[in-house]
Amino acid sequence: MTHARRQSTHHPIQVIAHRGASDDAPEHTLAAYRKAIEDGADALECDVRLTADGHLVCVHDRRVNRTSNGRGAVSALELSELAALDFGSWKDREERNRKERNREESESPDWDPVPGELTSVLTLERLLELVVETRAAGRPLQLAVETKHPTRWAGQVEERLLQLLKQFELDAPPADGPSPVRIMSFSARSLHRVQAAAPALPTVYLMQFVSPRLRDGRLPAGARIAGPGMRIVRNHPGYIERLHRAGHRVHVWTVNEPEDVELCVDLGVEAIITNRPKQVLSQLGRP
Ligand code: G3P
Ligand code: CA
Repeated sequence: MTHARRQSTHHPIQVIAHRGASDDAPEHTLAAYRKAIEDGADALECDVRLTADGHLVCVHDRRVNRTSNGRGAVSALELSELAALDFGSWKDREERNRKERNREESESPDWDPVPGELTSVLTLERLLELVVETRAAGRPLQLAVETKHPTRWAGQVEERLLQLLKQFELDAPPADGPSPVRIMSFSARSLHRVQAAAPALPTVYLMQFVSPRLRDGRLPAGARIAGPGMRIVRNHPGYIERLHRAGHRVHVWTVNEPEDVELCVDLGVEAIITNRPKQVLSQLGRP
């Protein structure tokens, strides 16, 4: 390893549960977020999309086909239509198939596979309630919200998101601590909108590759934190050092393998976003 180990001089690396504890429970459901909290995650990650009737729901894909028993684009469905779908059973099926392939014993899943609140569509509002409840119980849980395809909605995603954060008093840091919420996006325009309307909210610029104009470690206007994908970290560790030299914090996604966690620690990144918060925390000596 050619990179100096920086972690010891910094705050402990923050562990963010990607779509909840999404390796163990169906992504973006209350079951996955409760499991992540139980596993000890420092923060939760979610993607948000607007429904046809203007509600923000936590769904990754443009369509609901992969993660529910329904079909169609989130943007073409109303919340009541989404609420009638089951967002849990697909994971149970996937897990049973995987175990059959590997000839492993089938046990009951970690979540209740019977359709109900735990595995129905999760609104951002319900997730914010969970964050507020957890913080009120004395745990400084944070939330990282990713705006999906915000350009299509010309500001409506950010507008609704900021309204909700204000309603839950999560739109600015408390006097004695860091902001409970940060906004992430692959769209610099989306982050710019957020920064203009709510300057106290940290913004994370997500990157799948390094654009030539940002190679020197600069970030687009409106972005405060760098969010490179793990592939960038593996292939261009020197870029992470450049981001740090430019004074940026670095939050990496999606870090699931032990060797990737180790590389992130060696490079001194400030946060890792993972589907496996329990395993990562245990590797970091925080079981
Ligand atoms: O946390 C960032 C990461 O979630 C971005 O990729 O496709 O999983 O939303 P994706
Ligand atoms: Ca995401």
